[in-house]
Amino acid sequence: MEMTLIHGQAHKGSGWHMTRSIAKALDDGNTIIHEFSLPVDADKFCIGCYNCILKGCEFCPHKDKIQPIVKALESSDVIIIDSPTYCFEMSGALKSLFDHLGYMWLSHRPNKAMFNKVGIVVSTAAGAGAKGVTKSMARQLFWMGVPKVYRMNMNVNAAKWEDVTEKVRGEIESRISAISIKAGRSVKKVKPGLKHRLLFNIMARMQKGNSWNLVDRNHWDNMGWLDKAKPWNAS
Ligand SMILES: Cc1cc2nc3c(=O)[nH]c(=O)nc-3n(C[C@H](O)[C@H](O)[C@H](O)COP(=O)(O)O)c2cc1C
Repeated sequence: MEMTLIHGQAHKGSGWHMTRSIAKALDDGNTIIHEFSLPVDADKFCIGCYNCILKGCEFCPHKDKIQPIVKALESSDVIIIDSPTYCFEMSGALKSLFDHLGYMWLSHRPNKAMFNKVGIVVSTAAGAGAKGVTKSMARQLFWMGVPKVYRMNMNVNAAKWEDVTEKVRGEIESRISAISIKAGRSVKKVKPGLKHRLLFNIMARMQKGNSWNLVDRNHWDNMGWLDKAKPWNAS
């Protein structure tokens, strides 16, 4: 099995510990793990140049930081992403990474490799907002075609992992063990559901009439998606 862990902050807080615990629970002893901390491993904000969307991901001025993460995502069975809840949103560093991956959305050039992954998104808050953050993180993975995303949000009533009480840690451990069992069972077995399939077909119809972005349209054409092929079927 292969896993990518992305930490939406550079410190080892509660999200970092939870992601590491989930990865440990899923590790079959033979797991290749790719791990990135933000902003350290992708330290530039998306500047909105549109190069990735209109020309190709190789024209992104930050490709040297972004493409190693894309390669890790492509080859992984499981993607675990954490972010602290900052002002009811995900961290700016994580959002910037997601902005850099916008070219892989269903509305542009979906990556066939994403349609068989299991995603797990984690966010903690001191008191409120983490549920909305995991919803938002899951939405990002959904739009990249990831068929199954588990969400884990927790109020930890603390600013630092060291201050998280034994009671809350116990609750975290039991939720991690439940989510790891479910996620472990889905690895290599997931396929997009009805919502993904419908959306994909709508996007295919849109791409047939797309004359403003031929990089996108040619991608769909080359993949055979303007015809009968689907990214979730073996080619
Ligand atoms: C800039 C900033 C904004 C925050 N915003 C919220 C918030 O909206 N709601 C909340 O309950 N806690 C908020 N917190 C607290 C953190 O979400 C909380 O301590 C979280 O557990 C940190 O996760 P980490 O240990 O993984 O970094 C904020 C903290 C910071 C530094």
